[in-house]
Amino acid sequence: MIIAIDGPAAAGKSTSAKLLAERLNFLYLDTGAMYRCIALSVIEHKIDIYDESSQKDFISSFNLELKTVDGAPDFLVNGNSVTKKIRTTAISKKVSEISAIPAIREYMVSLQRSFAKNNNCVVEGRDIGTVVFPEAEIKFFIIASVEVRAKRRKLELQNIGETISLKELRRDIKARDKHDSERSHSPLKKAINAIQIDTTEMNIDEQVNYMIKNVNLKKIGKNNK
Ligand code: DC
Repeated sequence: MIIAIDGPAAAGKSTSAKLLAERLNFLYLDTGAMYRCIALSVIEHKIDIYDESSQKDFISSFNLELKTVDGAPDFLVNGNSVTKKIRTTAISKKVSEISAIPAIREYMVSLQRSFAKNNNCVVEGRDIGTVVFPEAEIKFFIIASVEVRAKRRKLELQNIGETISLKELRRDIKARDKHDSERSHSPLKKAINAIQIDTTEMNIDEQVNYMIKNVNLKKIGKNNK
């Protein structure tokens, strides 16, 4: 079974996807983290990602693995764990632009499908229910107000020692929303059969319980979405 979770940045996808996967004993696949791994490599190796031949060389030398360490996902780029390094503001600012490149998306989508192959999986991203797994058995589309999303992101960044103002976070989030939803290749979009959840006034337990309820309804055939 594939559960697709899409929605804009910082709407509460990751936390609920992770907990949902734990509760159901499914694999958790964070596709945003995969794009972040690419962005990190592009920045670290100063790749000219818009030059066709460096783009090709980069993709063919890029190796991404997903492991589970102490129950948590760990991404390795060419053998090195990068899971902690991909959450910084510098990566957040760059990733949206890099993820809009068609060749990067094609490569990522095939990798995402291969990671999820033969697994029960909760897959989180922007285009999971529309492009990567349009046949997913259940699809959620998670939204929240920009204000609440900025506050949540501020807390997350505080946990990794970064201080950034709410004003700047609101600006970054709006810019990322615009970029992710207006790009021509697989933009952020709610799948027509997705269940929309507005988490602005929900806590994490409420979110996950609501999702579990919908998964159970689906299992007994009472959710016709
Ligand atoms: O979920 P996140 O903030 O970690 O995602 C980082 C970026 O990756 C986001 O700005 C858009 C992009 N992304 C995407 O284009 N498609 C996905 N399936 C997942 C993320």
